[in-house]
Amino acid sequence: MRHPETAPSHASCTVAVAVSRLAYRCGGSAGIFVRMDRLPCFTRLAQGQGAPEATRRLVQGRTSRNHEVVAQPLQFPLASRRLERRTPKGFECNNASHQPGPSAKPMTSIVQISDTHFGTEQPAVVQALEDHVREHRADLLVFSGDITQRARRGQFASAAAFVRRLEADGVGDTLVIPGNHDIPLYNVFARLFTPYGNYRQHFGDDLEPVFENEQMLVIGLNTTHPRRHKDGVVTARQVERVARRLGESDPGKIRIVVAHQPFGAMVPSDLSNLQHGAEPALQRWAEHGLDLVMGGHIHLPYVLPLSRQYPGLAREIWMVQAGTTLSTRLRGTSPNSFNRLKLHPGDEKKVCVERWDLSAGRFVLGSHFNLSW
Ligand SMILES: [Fe+2]
Repeated sequence: MRHPETAPSHASCTVAVAVSRLAYRCGGSAGIFVRMDRLPCFTRLAQGQGAPEATRRLVQGRTSRNHEVVAQPLQFPLASRRLERRTPKGFECNNASHQPGPSAKPMTSIVQISDTHFGTEQPAVVQALEDHVREHRADLLVFSGDITQRARRGQFASAAAFVRRLEADGVGDTLVIPGNHDIPLYNVFARLFTPYGNYRQHFGDDLEPVFENEQMLVIGLNTTHPRRHKDGVVTARQVERVARRLGESDPGKIRIVVAHQPFGAMVPSDLSNLQHGAEPALQRWAEHGLDLVMGGHIHLPYVLPLSRQYPGLAREIWMVQAGTTLSTRLRGTSPNSFNRLKLHPGDEKKVCVERWDLSAGRFVLGSHFNLSW
């Protein structure tokens, strides 16, 4: 529904963005668009407040064609001013500070893979990931959905065999959740009556597994639904269940929620891909000590402090997004990638997030960030 107070400025925003688009088509630079990004009307649009659909599509279409803009985070100016006073910033990860001393316990690590879309996987990339795990190992493998391309039995069988090989190569435990592609799309009967039949056959009946040890609590959420094509939704029941589980756990543990669709957007074109119900869920979970949410879905890896997008959060919650790990379904200039999280639980908890990118047939360290609270 259009917000009555914003309608006139959105009309002018539509004209302004159209001018930007025309300038771009005539050979203008991305800078024109970036300046448009600073217009108050654009900010309201980006925050989804009363955006006319035509304007939203115009902005989204313009953005998705520009990889330089895609590489920059969405700006929420009012929120980010508060952020400087209220929350710590992410900083470049100093890997040296993350090496355990001689008497320290071995570091706990999570490998997050996502959106493998088996059926479109690349055998050489599958091999590269197995080589990485054999060399570096991991305490936990988090698989954040879109395991398959079309939820077919053979695609799940290939994916399950791949996970078993990773476990044999050096993964301690595995936590898997479904994505929207893991429900049949064309087989309407299966979609209506046994939407998770093939998933369950290969990955078990539990669609919302939980993993907990001395260092971490990882809560999986199924945010897919057979009646929704792509969108994810967090229900009130899920919000309360997660809040209760967070409240019962040791505050020194790293507390994580994994869901397929993202809770925070990096670029305007992804605002329509956010979880339905994201804001009230995050508000509630922040009150109960959530540290981090992990997701996939949009094939764009990034790390974001969610208090920029949701200024009322009681504490910082970091968003760790994974790209597509194995699939040919690459987005823009982002290569195949996965995340490796190194956990430092305790009074001064820290997490080092490494993104490993495919380059020349092998996964190499692409970026790293230290997260703190
Ligand atoms: Fe996907």
